[in-house]
Amino acid sequence: MCGIFGYLNYLVERDRRFIMDTLVNGLSRLEYRGYDSAGFACDGDSDDSTIIIKQVGKVAALKKLVDEQQIDFDKTFISHCGMAHTRWATHGQPSQINCHPHRSDENNEFTIVHNGIITNYKEIKLLLIKKGYTFESDTDTECVAKLTKYIYESQKDSPNFNLTTLVKAVAKELEGSFAFIFKSTHFPNEIVATRRGSPLLVGVKTAKKLKVDFVDVEFSNPVEAPASTAKDANNFLSAAADNGQPQLLHRSQSRAFLSEDGLPQPIEYFLASDAAAIVEHTKRVLYLEDDDIAHIADGELHIHRLRRDENGATPSAATRSIQTLEIELAEIMKGSFDHFMQKEIYEQPESVVNTMRGRVNFENHKVTLGGLRGYLNTIRRARRIVFIACGTSYHSCLATRGVFEELTEIPTQIDIASDFLDRRGPIFRDDVCVFVSQSGETADTILAMRYCLERGALGVGITNTVGSAISRETQCGVHINAGAEVGVASTKAYTSQYIALVMMAIQLSEDRVSTMERRKEIIDGLYKLPGHIKEVLAGAESLQQLSKDTLSHEKSLLIMGRGYQSATCLEGALKIKEISYMHSEGILAGELKHGTLALVDENMPVILIMTKDSLYPKVQSALSQVTSRKGQPIIICNTGDENLIHEYKTIPVPQTADCLQGLVNIIPLQLLSYYLALLKGQDVDFPRNLAKSVTVE
Ligand code: F6R
Repeated sequence: MCGIFGYLNYLVERDRRFIMDTLVNGLSRLEYRGYDSAGFACDGDSDDSTIIIKQVGKVAALKKLVDEQQIDFDKTFISHCGMAHTRWATHGQPSQINCHPHRSDENNEFTIVHNGIITNYKEIKLLLIKKGYTFESDTDTECVAKLTKYIYESQKDSPNFNLTTLVKAVAKELEGSFAFIFKSTHFPNEIVATRRGSPLLVGVKTAKKLKVDFVDVEFSNPVEAPASTAKDANNFLSAAADNGQPQLLHRSQSRAFLSEDGLPQPIEYFLASDAAAIVEHTKRVLYLEDDDIAHIADGELHIHRLRRDENGATPSAATRSIQTLEIELAEIMKGSFDHFMQKEIYEQPESVVNTMRGRVNFENHKVTLGGLRGYLNTIRRARRIVFIACGTSYHSCLATRGVFEELTEIPTQIDIASDFLDRRGPIFRDDVCVFVSQSGETADTILAMRYCLERGALGVGITNTVGSAISRETQCGVHINAGAEVGVASTKAYTSQYIALVMMAIQLSEDRVSTMERRKEIIDGLYKLPGHIKEVLAGAESLQQLSKDTLSHEKSLLIMGRGYQSATCLEGALKIKEISYMHSEGILAGELKHGTLALVDENMPVILIMTKDSLYPKVQSALSQVTSRKGQPIIICNTGDENLIHEYKTIPVPQTADCLQGLVNIIPLQLLSYYLALLKGQDVDFPRNLAKSVTVE
């Protein structure tokens, strides 16, 4: 996890205050990725000095610390590079010493920021300790900073040695996942960034028009020796040193950032884990791929490859093109809301429309998903469809499984990515695997995707993040277009994923006359959905009251339902757990009598989902099971269900097609979780121990 940010200005005069503010502001946009601590590195008063400022806690604490510094904020730099980091601790507790940036030595010769986990860091650390290095933190990242210095010392006199060759030699020794930014007093005003498994993109801002919109990739020479591994602890560093310099197949074709008149031009670069930190500066971005090494110096960006693709690296194109971001800054700002989560809950009447826009024809009752064009028949002929996801995204698969099976009649399997990987489940060439992920960067889901693609299955990506690993590496897919989701607890992405999967089922079954009426019913339901969500949102005040009067002092909560609502129960319980820290369990009501009923008595709070569908009579029996044990359930029922409304505490919601009812029913549970978290004084957008994008296994 964690968020990294880098800023480099070339021939653009900036004062230190501007540079520091840019770094800190970049971090505040990435804070949802981790908020245990924050820090940055920038130049001191001379080229061979680096200032590192870091602080435990949120970015606001770092900002305060910056303001307290006794330094010359007016000092200007015509060219300069800085890097910053916001942390979600994986190795070592959140403490001052474990904050990034990490450094190679007391003189800050090499400073680095890192998102990911280096799994072989212990071997590296042991070896460096033997070589006389001492460590100040408990992190895996510090080992990489020190390894960089060690390799620098052993290779610096080799011909053609530069920051890129150094980072290549370092990266070859690393196992695990990473996105790194490197800065060094030996290479002033240069940045090298690299990634494997963790996201990283580069924003480019120029006053003039660029001559070309792509960067050539420089591949390593095929005769380059294979990377040694750190497990071979006795010789790994000497092997790195003995490798010689990787020669480049072609050089200097990547001078992409000449202006139209061919002259070097003032330019600024922004590196970040997420476009959210770049969009306010520039919309022109380049996504790095795994094993790319991006080197920025003298205003130019060069991209090198760490390994030849044939040697097992992710296949790489020969160029990286500059894309234009479509998100607006306003999308990632809170506006008039108190929290991102609240804003995102309230955005749902609009975000669900954005998911359907240009795809659902409400008059002809047709769905067209451009991202599946050319693959529909392959999917229809699949032996089975395997949905793979984590957390809330997994729940969206569960919620739509019924309608998928009903409309397509294709056998459907649903797996949690980590569990699927643990089992190494069988996957065949005639399987279609659908990877659902808001971020498109969740490590477990990405690993499962690669596992399935290697076995020849067709990969379909359902993500909210254009340019993410999942959207790039799958053959086809659907962008859910929910807009940037910043709150750590996923809300609008859930409803949009749900709709994307329903749309996919509808389109796949469009050739089946037998399901035509059902498709019409669902499409009519989708048409009315924004209105239905608005109706539930209008009742927010009574939900706030209910949380206060009935639930806020409780320790535990059971949420029960069945059929289409099973997923709603699990998702509602997850929302409550993650932001209010109240124990909550989603219970499939059919399973109640097989164990959980033992928990029910007059003191156990229960929410029962009892909206009208074919299973209503069966849920009535769950209600009897609860009430006969003196349970006093709060019931989510349909507006107009007078029997329930008169007899129980209820949360009435409008009725829609059974397979869409979960989209309406989840809204009161999202709101309840939000209000419970507020009442319990929790930090809604930054729940403890969590981060938005889980880019580690
Ligand atoms: C819960 C939540 C998580 C994510 C999960 C997968 O509110 O947000 O459970 O759903 O970490 O993330 P993505 O969808 O980005 O793959």
